[in-house]
Amino acid sequence: MALIATGGLITGHGIAAVLAAGAAAAQLGTAFLLCPEAGTSQAHREMIRRNAAPTALTRAFTGRTARGISNRFLREHTPHAPSAYPEIHHLTAPLRSAARAQGDADGFHMWAGQAYPLAQPTPAAELVLNLAADARDALQTAAERITTGDHHQQSRWR
Ligand SMILES: Cc1cc2nc3c(=O)[nH]c(=O)nc-3n(C[C@H](O)[C@H](O)[C@H](O)COP(=O)(O)O)c2cc1C
Repeated sequence: MALIATGGLITGHGIAAVLAAGAAAAQLGTAFLLCPEAGTSQAHREMIRRNAAPTALTRAFTGRTARGISNRFLREHTPHAPSAYPEIHHLTAPLRSAARAQGDADGFHMWAGQAYPLAQPTPAAELVLNLAADARDALQTAAERITTGDHHQQSRWR
């Protein structure tokens, strides 16, 4: 069975770690939020760029738990939000659309993983190449450490 690692991965080093731990692949979401190709709204992009607030888990926007950047809507409604997807999603959708259209970062969901401050405004294809190169470097560096250890032991045994 192939396992795909996901959640909180945003650097090549993180990808290297999960591959070394046995994952068949790494899946990244938040890493792509600032790519020019992403559908991320301007207000959401601005919150990410400013590293404006921590993330939190909430049912407030849709009735099902997800992680987003903390804002007024999230803070006010999380404590009493019911587990009621998709009803809450449909109920809040017009409010969230209006807030997003007005650029009101306090009124709509800004999904993001905990590592969002490390997101880069890089075109997606370039970002994937950079991440792959960084992951390869990290794995090579780690492998070389082990090789060095072997040499050390061999020379001691000689
Ligand atoms: C654009 C976007 C959409 C998301 N949509 C959902 C969703 O529908 N349901 C959910 O449980 N989490 C959703 N999440 C948040 C995830 O709960 C998760 O915390 C996060 O993306 C972790 O992986 P990452 O660090 O690779 O982004 C979404 C995240 C992003 C960036």
